[in-house]
Amino acid sequence: MANKLRISFYSVCLLSSVALNIYFATTPYFGKKQKPIISWTLKAAAEAEAVASTSCSGHGKAYLDGLIVNGNPICECNNCYGGSDCSVFATDCAADADSGNPLFLEPFWMQHASTSAVLLSGWHRMSYASNDKFEVSPELVNNIHKVHAIARNAITKGKYIVFGGGSTQLLGAAVYALSMNLSSPASVVAASPAYPLYKSQTDYFQNMHFEFKGDALTLNNSSDNLENVIEFVTSPNNPDGNLRRAVAQGKSVKAIYDHAYYWPHFTAIPSPANEDVMVFTISKLTGHAGSRFGWALVKDEVVYQRMKTYISLSEFSISREAQMRAQQLLEAILEGNGKEIFDFGYEKMRNRWEKLSQTIALSNHFTLQEIPNQYCNFFEKVRGPSPAYAWLKCEREEDINCNAVLKAGKIIGRNGSLFDSKDRYVRLSLLMRDDDFDFLLGRLNVLVGNEDGAKTI
Ligand SMILES: Cc1ncc(COP(=O)(O)O)c(C=O)c1O
Repeated sequence: MANKLRISFYSVCLLSSVALNIYFATTPYFGKKQKPIISWTLKAAAEAEAVASTSCSGHGKAYLDGLIVNGNPICECNNCYGGSDCSVFATDCAADADSGNPLFLEPFWMQHASTSAVLLSGWHRMSYASNDKFEVSPELVNNIHKVHAIARNAITKGKYIVFGGGSTQLLGAAVYALSMNLSSPASVVAASPAYPLYKSQTDYFQNMHFEFKGDALTLNNSSDNLENVIEFVTSPNNPDGNLRRAVAQGKSVKAIYDHAYYWPHFTAIPSPANEDVMVFTISKLTGHAGSRFGWALVKDEVVYQRMKTYISLSEFSISREAQMRAQQLLEAILEGNGKEIFDFGYEKMRNRWEKLSQTIALSNHFTLQEIPNQYCNFFEKVRGPSPAYAWLKCEREEDINCNAVLKAGKIIGRNGSLFDSKDRYVRLSLLMRDDDFDFLLGRLNVLVGNEDGAKTI
């Protein structure tokens, strides 16, 4: 009897073990996820979290690839802060509003740390692109389609997508692609005030196919029949934030639409853009300018092929690490259906613009650009301005160098002449961290408050 009981006990154990084995072996095929075993990622994850948790008093950050002294990561302090933990504020430091570094989105990514982090194995996609099955990540292409569909800012259907090392590389590729096989060298133009890179890049890479010819409006007014013209159209514009259309008119005029800022953070989206050549970048969408990743939406296959050739001859293909990071960031955006980042970005930029406008409204010396309220297809309502930059004008006759006036008040901006305009204008970036924006506003308040006869609220 005891023997019989023992045998049936062992049979039950054996059967259960077989059943469990079958269950665990087949579960993945039936779609139920097994908990992955985390092994080799642990060290990398622990290192990343240890560095990120370094205390820099809220005025700086330590990075995995930053300096390490005696085994400790070193804080990289925000502008005007110093000391080993960035707690020392330099009171006489200047407010730096020169660079277009899009750090205003840093807090958004800190709030979305787990969905935006990327961990790469040491053997992640080591081949040259041509050895891989896909030269570009198909998931990233999908995410690009989705993010435009959510932002309602561009029609991607029927368009070719070219990846570039930031939009900077794609702008150059587009000029090459549009100027090949023309009867005479193309005149490359941009309406003033214009983003300086168009001139500097075209001048630097000048060849028998194209030449920079300055202001689009001047060229347009000089002839009834423009031939072989390529116009850069920045919409919304850097520096003044206004939405733009091409001004050069003629049969053989081609436009490159630079839509770096055509996202709900910075502008109303009146309708989805549907131009022949449109360039976008994560630099101003997610704020990851250091990752160097952009894309172009191109209608014509020949132009697309030529742009691809340009990228492949100058770079072979776009870094898989940059693609992976862009893919993860877009995924994180899409998780909240895009609403979260656009709400965050718009609120932040609108708030900054309102505060700045209130300060400048009290001044007799300075004015700001005007940006009309517009219906936004994304927010489905009329909304006010939230530009990336202030285009500040010195109104007093004697203030022909506006940047010098600001400099005396310890504010650093970018000269208007760099944008093919007058030095009576200065561009002030509004894309910085909160620390830097608050500091800029403080300095402007002092400058305006010290004016003779400054207005009061
Ligand atoms: C209008 C415009 N286009 C392009 C760029 C460059 O973008 P990326 O970082 O993608 O090269 C900038 C950067 O400030 C910009 O303002």
